[in-house]
Amino acid sequence: MKVDVLLGLQWGDEGKGKAVDVLTPHYDMVARFQGGPNAGHTLEFEGHKMVLHTIPSGIFRENTKNVIGNGVIIDPYVLGLEIAEASAFTDVKSKLFISQKANLILPTHRLLDHANEAAMGSKKIGSTLKGIGPTYTDKTARKGLRVGDLLTGDFDTKYRQLKASHLRQIECMGFDYSEVRMEGMLFAEYEKAWLEAVERLRNYALVSTEYLINNALSAGQSVLAEGAQGTLLDVDFGTYPYVTSSNTITAGACNGLGVGPSSIGRVFGLFKAYCTRVGTGIFPTELFDETGEYLRQQGHEFGATTKRPRRCGWIDLNLLRYACMLNGVTDLIMMKTDVLNGFETIKACTEYEVAGVRTGEIPYRLDETAVPVYREFEGWKQPLCEGKLDSRLEAYLHFVEQFLGRKTFMVSYGPDRDETLLF
Ligand code: GDP
Ligand code: IMO
Ligand code: MG
Repeated sequence: MKVDVLLGLQWGDEGKGKAVDVLTPHYDMVARFQGGPNAGHTLEFEGHKMVLHTIPSGIFRENTKNVIGNGVIIDPYVLGLEIAEASAFTDVKSKLFISQKANLILPTHRLLDHANEAAMGSKKIGSTLKGIGPTYTDKTARKGLRVGDLLTGDFDTKYRQLKASHLRQIECMGFDYSEVRMEGMLFAEYEKAWLEAVERLRNYALVSTEYLINNALSAGQSVLAEGAQGTLLDVDFGTYPYVTSSNTITAGACNGLGVGPSSIGRVFGLFKAYCTRVGTGIFPTELFDETGEYLRQQGHEFGATTKRPRRCGWIDLNLLRYACMLNGVTDLIMMKTDVLNGFETIKACTEYEVAGVRTGEIPYRLDETAVPVYREFEGWKQPLCEGKLDSRLEAYLHFVEQFLGRKTFMVSYGPDRDETLLF
């Protein structure tokens, strides 16, 4: 069996949580492979709404194992909160498997995130301030603490050493963290809560998830890998430096789970019928007018993790084609088609004009000099008409499929798991 991958093709928040929840009944295992609690994946079912940050979005279905892979970074306190919340609906403990090789986000990583952003002033990334950049930095610098270290006798010493080195860095930067709050708490209180959460984490299945996954594949079981963030936030191919610190593309599933490229099966590429972005960085099709505001209100475009208003704009097919190439997308999933209900016309960017020349390529540094060229489409009143796609939405989707050279697998027309059409 193969690992199918589901990931975002834009700047995150495409609706990955909902799509994974819908697909989970077809899989034996769902696995997160990168990112950390910067992610906020929303699921709505049976009148409930849950936002998951680290737990895979397959957790609410029966008989599915949920794996937090080695490529993920974990804040034990945030994960503990999530487990407590999700446990109201399901037996999380029996279904959750955590990689011993996943790196830990320390409270001082979060302070460093604050210090780095403050030092960058107007050039700041707009990070979620969850400690993502500093934790991945320590991982690649080979200084990080891993989940497996909880099972060795010297965790406390290692923790104290890494914390002391972080505090020295923060002091050198001249950053005053006395007022910084993490999950509403000042540093000392947060550290205490974090250390208590570390103790609780020891009670979970902390395993070599690379064996768990590969053994499952050998036994004929199916695995769905769930991406976080989106392709345009990838540390190599995204809108650098305004990106996250991990590989969000399909390749990230290989090193984030310990599976070979030949084990990858279908790649589901997810996008909204329009486009959003949180944080700083270029967004060629961003709308600063009342249409942008309408999309924000209609699509409830406020961050699931940070509650920040998301920047909104038209879909950028030029960037989507690039994202399909990078990920080897086999199937398209279009989300939030209902948000465009009632538009007389909608627009889609198909190429850029750079210094008077039209191009379908993404320049090395994508910036304001790339002016989007749009194509207009007739809007639809509602996505579905007598159980079938509205003919205008169908025509739009047909154009997108032709442009991207891939077929549609799913169309979503509402946040609930039932508001979904599968092809
Ligand atoms: P993720 O990070 O990719 O999982 O996406 P988020 O959860 O951050 O943001 C997607 C938002 O859109 C959530 O509030 C979802 O409940 C909601 N959503 C998902 N699919 C649809 C849809 O088809 N229509 C509408 N209106 N909302 C949707
Ligand atoms: P999901 O999985 C949208 C953005 C941040 C910031 C940049 C770097 O819910 O789609 P970081 O905290 O990673 O250092 O922030 O990346 N960002 C996201 N934007 N959705 C996400 O996750 C994001 N995770 C990070 O806003 O611009
Ligand atoms: Mg999100």
